[in-house]
Amino acid sequence: MKLKLNDILFEAEQGAMASCFPIIMSGLRNFNPEFGHNLAIKSLSMGLCGGRRPWQDSPALKVKAMGLSFPNPVGIAAGFDKNAAAVVPLARIGFGGVEVGTVTPKPQSGNPKPRLFRLTEDGAVINRMGFNNDGIYRMAARLEKIRNSKGPFKTKAYIPVGVNIGINKIGANPETDYPMQVGLIGQYADYIVLNLSSPNTPGLRDLQHPDRLSGILQAIQEQHPNHPPLLVKLAPDLSDAEVEAIVETVINTNVSGLILTNTTISRPDYLKGAFRYEPGGLSGRPIRQKSTEMLARVARLTKGRLTLIGCGGIETGADVIEKIMHGADFTQLYSAFAYEGPPLIHRIKREIVEILDKNNIHNVADLKNTAS
Ligand SMILES: Cc1cc2nc3c(=O)[nH]c(=O)nc-3n(C[C@H](O)[C@H](O)[C@H](O)COP(=O)(O)O)c2cc1C
Repeated sequence: MKLKLNDILFEAEQGAMASCFPIIMSGLRNFNPEFGHNLAIKSLSMGLCGGRRPWQDSPALKVKAMGLSFPNPVGIAAGFDKNAAAVVPLARIGFGGVEVGTVTPKPQSGNPKPRLFRLTEDGAVINRMGFNNDGIYRMAARLEKIRNSKGPFKTKAYIPVGVNIGINKIGANPETDYPMQVGLIGQYADYIVLNLSSPNTPGLRDLQHPDRLSGILQAIQEQHPNHPPLLVKLAPDLSDAEVEAIVETVINTNVSGLILTNTTISRPDYLKGAFRYEPGGLSGRPIRQKSTEMLARVARLTKGRLTLIGCGGIETGADVIEKIMHGADFTQLYSAFAYEGPPLIHRIKREIVEILDKNNIHNVADLKNTAS
């Protein structure tokens, strides 16, 4: 499968746009990480980055999952655009899907700063943001505006937008908060993710326990039976037995899929970054293998009955292909994007197409579950 002329011309246009990014990114890296992040979101939302028209990906990159069509298999993971402030620009710079959030019922400011740390030597990030966000009502208003605006996002035909929901640090009642948010945001979301795995909200990860999870799922089903596809995002720190119990719990319910994985609270011995012992969730290169192993384990257990999204440590096209070969229908990344910015997504897609070309593979989805 060769790139078509249109793709090449379009890549050239985007390439010119992207060529200024190494300079911008090295500038952003000199800032305190959270300031740099906020500036990136601001520039994106002001339309300072991104092409003039929707990205045209090679048909070889198109994947389908949960009845949704993704133009390419690489999405931006939750946490980057917590408030749905940059959905359209994130689509324009070439992601195959955008997951916004984590959003909570009420706005909250999150943990005290500093709470975001770069481990540059390790290609990693540690965060303990603590779900700083504007709340579900403001997010719903933003997503409604996008849906009602002119342009490709008017219909659901362009790229899927998922909403990742969580709970407030204070005054939470998960059994009512999750269903309430599903009811409120369902009409604007192509899929909804129950985040039960961030390490920075006390008690959240306990909700992965089958009893708690079943109660929440049942309440959602009873109150909002027509909800969009529902996924559950899991921590990479679960034991094999815990993973098995979760899969058993969700397999015959209203859950369409799982996201493997969120950040880890573990710290591999080989980390070099000065901030390696900061409390919080570790992401990026050091979690790639752990996340992929968990994905593979879940793929063996689910045997195609659930959609699987692979997330954790993706930096290259080969990393995306590795996740797909281990059972992923779609993939997401965050940390590598924080380091490299928009050129990353173009590089990754180019690398995937090159690998497919070299091996005479028609579509990236043909590689699903082919790891031996
Ligand atoms: C700064 C930061 C904030 C994050 N916030 C969230 C969040 O709000 N909700 C969530 O589900 N995951 C969040 N994550 C986890 C990512 O979505 C992703 O699961 C994890 O970082 C692994 O992917 P990566 O190695 O490509 O970064 C966050 C990650 C980072 C680095």
